[in-house]
Amino acid sequence: MDRSTIPVIAIDGPSASGKGTIAALVARELGFHYLDSGAIYRVTAYAALQAGLALEDEAALIDMARRMELRFEGGEVFLEGQAVGDAIRTEEAGRAASRIAVLPALRAALLERQRAFRQAPGLATDGRDMGTVVFPDARVKVFLTASAEERARRRYKQLIEKGFCANFDRILQDLQERDARDAAREAAPLQHAPDAVLIDTTGMTIDEVVRRVLELYRQAPAIPAPKA
Ligand code: DC
Repeated sequence: MDRSTIPVIAIDGPSASGKGTIAALVARELGFHYLDSGAIYRVTAYAALQAGLALEDEAALIDMARRMELRFEGGEVFLEGQAVGDAIRTEEAGRAASRIAVLPALRAALLERQRAFRQAPGLATDGRDMGTVVFPDARVKVFLTASAEERARRRYKQLIEKGFCANFDRILQDLQERDARDAAREAAPLQHAPDAVLIDTTGMTIDEVVRRVLELYRQAPAIPAPKA
């Protein structure tokens, strides 16, 4: 079937901008599917570390990425049938994900896995290149951001709530390093696309951001279905 008429809401932005929370809530509100594309990079990096692969060995990473059995179910991520949701959320997995994410051929190898999530009645997704590369024809494109300090505070709170140890200064430094790497890489860099609506969430509640995205979706013109 022609998937291009299935609406996509693409939410891109830097680490800890809240894009995952917002995209998941928007998906729930609209009854859409949800794709956390960062989880695909995190799981790939995690699997590579587990397998003892060098994070620069693009050919080996691609081979592994093509073969890995990955499933998203009920908010959990399964790699080869094992729940890895918590393991891929660590700062170490995030750093490793950002390192492998610079590899263009690996990104290309992960494209189809991401596009397969475009299923009726629609998809809300978050990442760095959802609106620019993976779903350039998304109906709504949002670039979500917040100050680095605000994002570090949110990430710190999230880690503490999950019972992990956390150091605010280290998190802030890590976020700034990852932002710089994600924005400076040549392949699908983190950038505010000209056709994406910028939402700075510093000082906004989650509910306010969700309502703003839903409003953008309701205002966006639907693409007419192709004639049979
Ligand atoms: O969104 P996140 O923190 O879970 O993403 C982890 C890393 O994965 C991030 O530092 C860069 C990479 N990533 C990417 O390059 N492209 C995406 N669409 C999503 C994530």
